[in-house]
Amino acid sequence: MSEKKIDNTRRNLIAATAALSGAAGVAVAVPFAWSWWPSERAKAAGAPVQADISNLAPGELQVVEWRGKPVWIMRRTKEMLDSVKKSDDRVSDPKSEVPLQPEYAKNEYRSIKPEYLVLVGICSHLGCSPQAKSIDARAEMGADWLGGFLCPCHGSKFDLAGRVYKGAPAPVNLDVPPHSYLSDGTILIGDDKKGA
Ligand code: FES
Repeated sequence: MSEKKIDNTRRNLIAATAALSGAAGVAVAVPFAWSWWPSERAKAAGAPVQADISNLAPGELQVVEWRGKPVWIMRRTKEMLDSVKKSDDRVSDPKSEVPLQPEYAKNEYRSIKPEYLVLVGICSHLGCSPQAKSIDARAEMGADWLGGFLCPCHGSKFDLAGRVYKGAPAPVNLDVPPHSYLSDGTILIGDDKKGA
């Protein structure tokens, strides 16, 4: 990987992170552990990407790049998980009937482990990147807001499982990519055959 390319990737991720943290009130951590990133050629071919989540604190969101897309890993607190339960009647596909997640993530929290949400951070409407909005953003988001993500392009809202709110321009939920756990502190994005 050339230095220029690393710089560009870093700049893109910093920009994405700044957008998330600035609007969110949700802490964001983006570890720049470049050594475990695959080569440019391997990434272009869709190679899986390992994410070290061992230092991700409750409530934090980490962004990794996979196949040129941002993938979010959010460590959800109990309150965040409760908010997903309470959002069932606000979202258009509460049971994730549209197959936008692997079978093992077709459950209440759309995840393998309830604590960790793994999503492709690209809006299902026209491809913008939504921003995290904590429950403290109610003044902006409305009194019944429970926390989640807002797409800045046309206002689609998603809950903390990536389920789209009713009436939003986005037609379906956010994608859950194939993934697996190599250990408690390492997620493999893009491959669900190697780990648990
Ligand atoms: S691209 Fe997200 S609402 Fe249109």
